[in-house]
Amino acid sequence: MPRKTNFRPDYDEDYNDDYGDYDDYVGYDDKEHGLSTKGKTSQQDKALNKPVIWSCYICTYDNEQSFLSCEICGVLRDPSVASGKASDAKALAKPVFGATDEKNRTTKVKINDNISAALSDERQMDHSSASFAQAVQLNQTKGKNSKFNKNTLPSLTNDVDCLKIETNVIRKKEDSLDDSKPGTELLHDQEQGKQVQLNLAIVGHVDSGKSTLSGRLLHLLGRISNKEMHKYEKEAKEKGKGSFTYAWAMDESTEERERGVTMTVAVAYFNSKKYRVVLLDSPGHKDFVPNMISGAAQADAAVLVIDASVGSFEAGMEGSGFGQTREHAQLMRSFGVEQLIVAINKMDLVAYKKERFDFIKTQLGSFLRSCGFKESNVTWIPLSAMANQNLVTASSDARLSSWYRGLCLLDVIDSLQPPLRDVSKPLRLPICDVTKLHTLGMVAVSGKLEAGAVQIGSKGPFRDFLLIFQLVEDQSCSQTRHKMLLIVLYGFEVLVMPSGEFASVRSIERDSSACSTARAGDNVAVNLHGIDPIHLIPGGVLCHPDFPVAVAARLELKILVLDIKMPIIIGSPVEFHIHHVKEAARVVKIVSVVDQKTGKVSKGAPRVLKSKQNAIVEVELDGAVCVEEFTKCKALGRAFLRSSGNTIAVGIITRIFEQNA
Ligand code: GTP
Ligand code: MG
Repeated sequence: MPRKTNFRPDYDEDYNDDYGDYDDYVGYDDKEHGLSTKGKTSQQDKALNKPVIWSCYICTYDNEQSFLSCEICGVLRDPSVASGKASDAKALAKPVFGATDEKNRTTKVKINDNISAALSDERQMDHSSASFAQAVQLNQTKGKNSKFNKNTLPSLTNDVDCLKIETNVIRKKEDSLDDSKPGTELLHDQEQGKQVQLNLAIVGHVDSGKSTLSGRLLHLLGRISNKEMHKYEKEAKEKGKGSFTYAWAMDESTEERERGVTMTVAVAYFNSKKYRVVLLDSPGHKDFVPNMISGAAQADAAVLVIDASVGSFEAGMEGSGFGQTREHAQLMRSFGVEQLIVAINKMDLVAYKKERFDFIKTQLGSFLRSCGFKESNVTWIPLSAMANQNLVTASSDARLSSWYRGLCLLDVIDSLQPPLRDVSKPLRLPICDVTKLHTLGMVAVSGKLEAGAVQIGSKGPFRDFLLIFQLVEDQSCSQTRHKMLLIVLYGFEVLVMPSGEFASVRSIERDSSACSTARAGDNVAVNLHGIDPIHLIPGGVLCHPDFPVAVAARLELKILVLDIKMPIIIGSPVEFHIHHVKEAARVVKIVSVVDQKTGKVSKGAPRVLKSKQNAIVEVELDGAVCVEEFTKCKALGRAFLRSSGNTIAVGIITRIFEQNA
């Protein structure tokens, strides 16, 4: 079954939008998909006959009796939490985590930066931390469980405020993306001889047959059973939409089905001989181009679906933003997609005529060349999704097989070159979608790993510690003194930007099944723990903890202006799109016009930009976004400017003005 990706988070409670049907999306239900042991709920653990004795008050994980520290986060076992009183422990855990939401976060300290200094510094013994204050309050409310002296609370809390431990520092290493190879430790077990994942976007003008083609392929390849197909057929016929039977397999929401229009990207999987294909069925309607951008940004290659029928192909080629064949082709090329399959669909409606195929190939071919597609990277294939011609086997219709002797669609997909992956670079996973799981403290993010790798289960070198100062009566000298408890938090594997919060990876799901490691190029759902979902947003990026992505609101771009009705001037309001985020912005400076052929500046500081011009501009965004310079990470360095529902420019980021610059 395909899973749907939204452009925004689908937090069940506080999120209300038109796409409400997807809010309860089942694709991320760890129960249903049988995530790995690390990701199972405590009930599932019990089912595995694992003796559950004490529950960690930090991460709530149920540990075995014999463990002195939490198996997941490394927190020392709190003797005050009695065996089996999981509810108490969990109640305590939540607010302790809540402490990390405070603006002045003092609970997380980079241990490798200054742990020895922190431990030896006497002054720190005189102070406490915010987490302590939280813990004190908690224990106060807990009454009998309190292990702190309530009488000393106010002064201690004041002390906490004075504590100046380096807080939750995110240290950006200079030239990090070039110099480091932090992902290499994850490569030693690289799967040998396994199929490469290929993210394949299905794009094209509205109603060209993208969903029908996707549904048909999945059915032919056994990913959708006959039983399911019969169900779709029956339901579609009942609603008077019999021709949408295959599209219904992809268009899951009531609104999509009633309107017969795809609104959000559907993600489905199948295996070809060479690839594990991730199919990204995009919406073709003009109104949903932002959703199409979000899904297609993950593509390694694309199938551009064309409706061959007379008038329909022509409609897709209309200029000024009306023809999505043009807009999608332009966007795909500027996403960096080089390999394109042009599937000329609905050939049954033109009696499989070679002349029509050749006409479309000539017209569209010259446009694709102007977008920058090399002829050798474009494959043309006539087919009919509805009549099952030329999809997974050669055409059986003599009208087509008499003149077309090339490969069928599935073989063309296998003939694509495997995509290059930035596996040895630091982790970059732009978040496409966020789903809050029903399991306590779990939240799943999905998207394509653009660089590096991510894995579960590794406790690795610890990254953070929590200092809790406990007041104890010293009987020998009748004084109170601070007793410092050091709680080491293990396994905070990823840094979540732009929030700067850390999270641990509990499980990873790839192609609907659990895996322990995912690498650049993989399209995954990552189950995170130890982070408030509020910090996870589409457009955020999971990073290697030592190599955060830049967050900026002012950027320099090199753009190509598309066909526009209104010229771009200084102050022009635009919608800025980058990976899975869009932000209102303004063009604040037009630095120069660049000669397309030579790449040299042809005019400095022009007042206006017109269609087809290349230029360097600066944009100011209303809010900061996660970005990289294009030369460092292509996927995070490509941007689009849209206005009045049309894409007006495509571009790359050439300079980032850091927030405090
Ligand atoms: P959007 O996602 O909304 O842009 O549409 P789409 O490109 O996914 O098109 P969809 O698959 O929903 O199909 C639109 C219509 O085209 C449906 O009525 C299909 O039955 C019809 N259709 C799709 N493929 C073929 C084909 O090969 N031949 C014929 N005759 N009709 C087709
Ligand atoms: Mg569709």
